[in-house]
Amino acid sequence: MKIVKYPHPALRVQAKPVLALDKDIQLAAGHMLELMYASEGLGLAAPQVALDHRLLVINFAGDPEKKDAEVVAINPVITETKGAISDREGCLSFPGLYQSVRRFKTVKVEYYDLKGDKFEMTCHDLAARIWQHEIDHLDGVLFIDKMGSLGRSRSERDLEQFIADFEKAKKKGDLPPGLEPKL
Ligand code: CO
Repeated sequence: MKIVKYPHPALRVQAKPVLALDKDIQLAAGHMLELMYASEGLGLAAPQVALDHRLLVINFAGDPEKKDAEVVAINPVITETKGAISDREGCLSFPGLYQSVRRFKTVKVEYYDLKGDKFEMTCHDLAARIWQHEIDHLDGVLFIDKMGSLGRSRSERDLEQFIADFEKAKKKGDLPPGLEPKL
């Protein structure tokens, strides 16, 4: 399992609801947590490891020691939103790219954990931002889609570099030669 980078087509897939909490989902969640911590991220969604499940992992503190800040969320949905706030945002599938993105300030989220227990959580600011960013991934939506026109234009050079790196990875054999980028 590896984190795929933009413009890998897996990032644009609409992920499917998880219908059974089987061994595959448990293993996927464990690997995703490891990858997230290894990359010092705050969240990672299944499409970022080329899996099309509605599964994501978060550590609100970004600290593997802080298990109380860790969430494995299955089939998460945002049920309420309030306010708006802009702040700097990044993504493990766009290493090095940070831009301001406008998000809801507060969100209420419902999700299931790996045991199938249902949870409800109301979050503000950074935590609310992480939920919105990660749930967007499950719908093939990326933070570059949510940037304002200024942030987007400031990102263009990085995006061109990601596209060039993707083509290079295909030539090197790190990605299948026929894989089509999805911008
Ligand atoms: Co992301």
